[in-house]
Amino acid sequence: MIRPRRLRASAAMRRLVSEVRVHPAQLVLPVFVAEGLDAPRPISSMPGVFQQTLDTLPDVIEQAAAAAIGGVMLFGVPIHKDAVGTGATDPDGILSRAVGVASQVAAGRLVVQADLCLDEFTDHGHCGVLDGDRVDNDATLVRYAQMGVVLARAGADMLGTSGMMDGQVAAVREALDAAGFVDTTILGYGAKYATALYGPFREAVNSSLTGDRRTYQQDPANGREALREVRLDLAEGADVIMVKPAFLDVVSAVAEVSDVPVAVYQVSGEYAMVEAAAANGWIDRRAMILESLTGCVRAGADIVLTYWALEAAEWLG
Ligand code: PBG
Repeated sequence: MIRPRRLRASAAMRRLVSEVRVHPAQLVLPVFVAEGLDAPRPISSMPGVFQQTLDTLPDVIEQAAAAAIGGVMLFGVPIHKDAVGTGATDPDGILSRAVGVASQVAAGRLVVQADLCLDEFTDHGHCGVLDGDRVDNDATLVRYAQMGVVLARAGADMLGTSGMMDGQVAAVREALDAAGFVDTTILGYGAKYATALYGPFREAVNSSLTGDRRTYQQDPANGREALREVRLDLAEGADVIMVKPAFLDVVSAVAEVSDVPVAVYQVSGEYAMVEAAAANGWIDRRAMILESLTGCVRAGADIVLTYWALEAAEWLG
C-alpha cells in the first residue's frame, strides 16, 4: 500500500517535509500615521492596530527592525483633505514626513514603502481627481507622478501604486527617472479588487468615501482580467507585483506569469474577521493567523503585507 501518512507521523518528520515556510523577511507591516493626534488612536474595527503619530512611529520602526521583518508600508492620515488631495504632494505633509522619519530610523534595515494613492487626501475619498462625478484617469496620473517624486525625495525605497488608474506605473516610473530617482522601486498593484474586505481600512484612514470604487478597481468575479493588469504593470516597469486582497487563486495565477516578485496584501477585513472570531473564542487565533500566512506563500506569494507582521515574525523567528 502507498502510505502518505508516513510523512506525517511525527512533528520532526512534518517539519522536515514542509513545502512552505514563512520567513519574517517576507512580511511587511502596514502602518497608519495620523496628523494631529497626541497619542496613538486605536482603530476599533481592527483590534490591536493603531493610528500612530510622528512621535510614536520611530518605536514602531524599531520594533519592525528588531523583528527582522522585510519592511513597512506607510499610510498617511491628514487632517485637511481637498478635491485634488493637495496633502499627498506636500513635502511637509503627513505621509512625506512619516516616510522621512521611517527611513531615517530604519537606516537601511527595512524596505520603507509608501502608499502612492490620493484617497487618504481627497475630501471625496476617491483614489484620483474627479471630473464631474467620474474619476479622471489621466489627470490623476499627473498627481501620482508628482506624489511619487515627493515620496522618493522623502526617502521611500518603494512606492505602492494602489490607485488602479490605467498607466500609473509608467507615469510614476517616468517621473521618478526624470527626477533622478532611478533606484526607487515600484510595487505595482496589478490586481486590486473592489472588495468589501477594505471596510475596516476606511476607519483606519478616516476615509470620506461615499459610494464605491468599481469604475477603477476590479470586479471580484474576474481572474483573467487580473493577468491583463499584471502584464501591463510589468510592461510599464513594476519591480514587484501586488495582488490585493488575498484572493489566492489570483495569487497563484499571477505567480505563474510574473518574472518579478509577487506580493499579496492580507487586508483589513481579513484581519478583522479573524480577530473577531478569535475574540469570540470561535477560532484558534495563532493557528489561524499562521495558516493564513502559509496559505499566501503556498499560493505563490514571495511577500505578504499583513497587520500581524510583528506578532507573526515573533512566532516564526
Ligand atoms: C487605497 C488603499 C486601500 C487599502 C490600501 N490602499 C483602500 C481602498 O482601495 O479602498 C485597503 C487596505 C486594507 O483594507 O487593509 N489607498
